[in-house]
Amino acid sequence: MSRKKIALIGGGQIGGVLSQLIALRELGDCVLFDIVEDLPQGKTLDIAEASRIDGFDIKLEGTNSYEQIHGADLIIVTAGLPRKPGMSRDDLLSTNANIIKQVAEAVKKYAPDSIVIVVSNPLDAMVTLFQKVSGFPHNRVLGQAGVLDSSRFSTFIAWELGVSVKDVNAMVLGGHGDTMVPLTRYANINGIPVMELLERKYNDAAKANEVMNAMVERTKMAGGEVVKLLKTGSAFYSPASASIAMAEAILKDEKRVLPTCAYLQNEYGVNGYYVGVPAILGAKGVEKIIEITLNNDESTALGKSISAVKGLVEDMERLGF
Ligand code: NAD
Ligand code: LAC
Repeated sequence: MSRKKIALIGGGQIGGVLSQLIALRELGDCVLFDIVEDLPQGKTLDIAEASRIDGFDIKLEGTNSYEQIHGADLIIVTAGLPRKPGMSRDDLLSTNANIIKQVAEAVKKYAPDSIVIVVSNPLDAMVTLFQKVSGFPHNRVLGQAGVLDSSRFSTFIAWELGVSVKDVNAMVLGGHGDTMVPLTRYANINGIPVMELLERKYNDAAKANEVMNAMVERTKMAGGEVVKLLKTGSAFYSPASASIAMAEAILKDEKRVLPTCAYLQNEYGVNGYYVGVPAILGAKGVEKIIEITLNNDESTALGKSISAVKGLVEDMERLGF
């Protein structure tokens, strides 16, 4: 059986960390593509030269030629511009749509059987466009956002409660924008509801709510918080880790339940849009969407987020994509 081949389209900040994580975990052979001459070659050479130290042995190549992604099993797309300070995700729409269109055409030509994880922003629109241009079945085109947003939420909960982040289970649904929906009611520490622990900590339900709301708001703004601190570019370590969790679930047929930007066909009352929902990821890509029971407030919040995604897709269509 041959080794899996992973192609990374975009050799910028996230693409570089992805290559290193793939090498360290020996997930498969890896090709890093970018349009900037020598950039992917330089990054992969640098990473490969650590192979003796880190003890990994995979084929790792950088390229400016799409031909080298030929036959890839899995593709992760990070090509595009990152958000600059003060710039919204939606501002990126037009520039990145042009890039994603080119990428989808090339992937369709050279890796027609691949499963594709899109990371480029604005995420929900770029996943939609990639699927439209490639014509790939919806289960083979998915987006990364919820794994990162959920990890951010979990991190804030762990810090607040003084517990190991390893025991925090929290999920964020909806679009990858300010309307995302961190599910506070489902958040738990190995089964113990986070709200219960907050109420016990503060001995005051109103204060517990206030603290939870602050964590929810910080989660929604977490991407912008990193952008402001970095001054140039946006988060890249955690987005790479999040994408690798999804890639690993697919490559190893793990059947992990991960918040995924997946195509909805009547789930959550939505038809024909990509939205962040819990899904089972395995060898076929998105194998099943899991519908969870939402109360009125959660449904309203998810409805708002879905409207924002629809608006973004409509804007993109108006721009001719
Ligand atoms: P980056 O600027 O460091 O890298 C992007 C790379 O894309 C650059 O190297 C650039 O040369 C390349 N590129 C540009 N046009 C291309 C084309 N036509 N074909 C192939 N490559 C091309 O950016 P980054 O920090 O790696 O972020 C990449 C994308 O991911 C951005 O759109 C960013 O907003 C997004 N992002 C998404 C999430 C998420 O959770 N979904 C999180 C962080 C960042
Ligand atoms: C983030 C943006 C850039 O969440 O998507 O970090």
